[in-house]
Amino acid sequence: MNTNHIRSQFPIFAQHPDTIFFDNAATAQKPQTVIDAINSFYTEDCANAGRSMYTMSTLLKTRLEDARSRVATFIGARPEDICFTSGATESLNLISLAWGLNNLKTGDEVMLCLEDHESAVLPWFHLRDQLRIFGIKIKLLPIRMHEHGDYELKHIAESKTARTRIMAMSHIHHLYGLDMEVKEVRRILGKNILIALDASQSVGHCQVDVNELPVDFLAFGGHKMFAANGVGILWVSPKLRKKLHPVIVGGGMKIDPSGKKLKIQSNTLANVLESGTQNTPSILSLVPAIDFIESIGINTIEQTIDRLTKSLYFQLKQLPGIEFSPGVDRCNCAHGYGVISFRFAQAATADVSALLSSHNILVRANSHCLFKKAKGDNYLRVSLHVYNTEQEIAHLIEVLRNNLP
Ligand SMILES: Cc1ncc(COP(=O)(O)O)c(C=O)c1O
Repeated sequence: MNTNHIRSQFPIFAQHPDTIFFDNAATAQKPQTVIDAINSFYTEDCANAGRSMYTMSTLLKTRLEDARSRVATFIGARPEDICFTSGATESLNLISLAWGLNNLKTGDEVMLCLEDHESAVLPWFHLRDQLRIFGIKIKLLPIRMHEHGDYELKHIAESKTARTRIMAMSHIHHLYGLDMEVKEVRRILGKNILIALDASQSVGHCQVDVNELPVDFLAFGGHKMFAANGVGILWVSPKLRKKLHPVIVGGGMKIDPSGKKLKIQSNTLANVLESGTQNTPSILSLVPAIDFIESIGINTIEQTIDRLTKSLYFQLKQLPGIEFSPGVDRCNCAHGYGVISFRFAQAATADVSALLSSHNILVRANSHCLFKKAKGDNYLRVSLHVYNTEQEIAHLIEVLRNNLP
């Protein structure tokens, strides 16, 4: 793998040659091909995809469906089982509203972990409140996080009951950087409890295949996998499609001939959950993003991130006063997924972040969108992707070593 060649495909690195971007868990940078896809939509192809009969419009519809097939194949799915959304957050909200609003009854339970990302947790609180309006009372079962930074599996086993219907969980944790052991969780839950997986931090970083993952819903966004902002994907197991009810209705949907209810065409997930004009340029940008990933190879990306994470971890470990968050440190970085969070006993996190920023090293600090703030906040998070280098890591370590009190 030629890192210089990879970096040369990202105009932002030429624009800011002295900046080190270590905030990839927040968003990934975009290769020129993704920028070109957005640009060419507005300069050459701007029409409403499929709404009109002229070629520019019909061709765009074909390209949208090609993009759908491409993304589906990328995660081992069928195009009829995925829909486009505005991002991971919308995908996660759709699970709770399209499925939860229509399938949960009083006494049913939803398992979740309050140390997961707010976008994966809050939709279930919102659903609980919505259902209450209709007199339906569901229960949320918070699962404890193990001090290592993964779920306390024993607590999952002890907490599940005959009324537990679904568990919301993350694939790779956005702050602790661990693989959250979805296969183990499935084994404990048995086959009747659904799993909604937040794959925001795994797609584009490592192999994600819905045939391998024992889950029922899978949500992720485009912008963390090199595509443009404003597009996300939701995959739903085909066995559940008929149990979903549309959430946003409008252009593209129909009323039953009786005029009494919405006509739900459940032959594809898109027919159930997509309506109105989609974010066409961002959807189209998924194709060059996947081209980019495949030009390197997802396994090479995963190995590179693993190598860089380990290197970063073993160098950070040497720094005086370092305190790691739960996560990679507890397992001696057995496998690195690109996320390491830490702070220093002798310096406030905000000050360290400001110090790094003054050296053009961009990391995340303080607020990490954790639902449960107290424990997880106040960490610096360095997050890596395939274009990061050993030299950048060495520079980070040098700046910390030379400037920390
Ligand atoms: C684990 C996780 N879930 C969900 C999200 C929400 O993604 P978005 O804001 O792109 O919708 C993020 C973004 O940081 C994330 O890291």
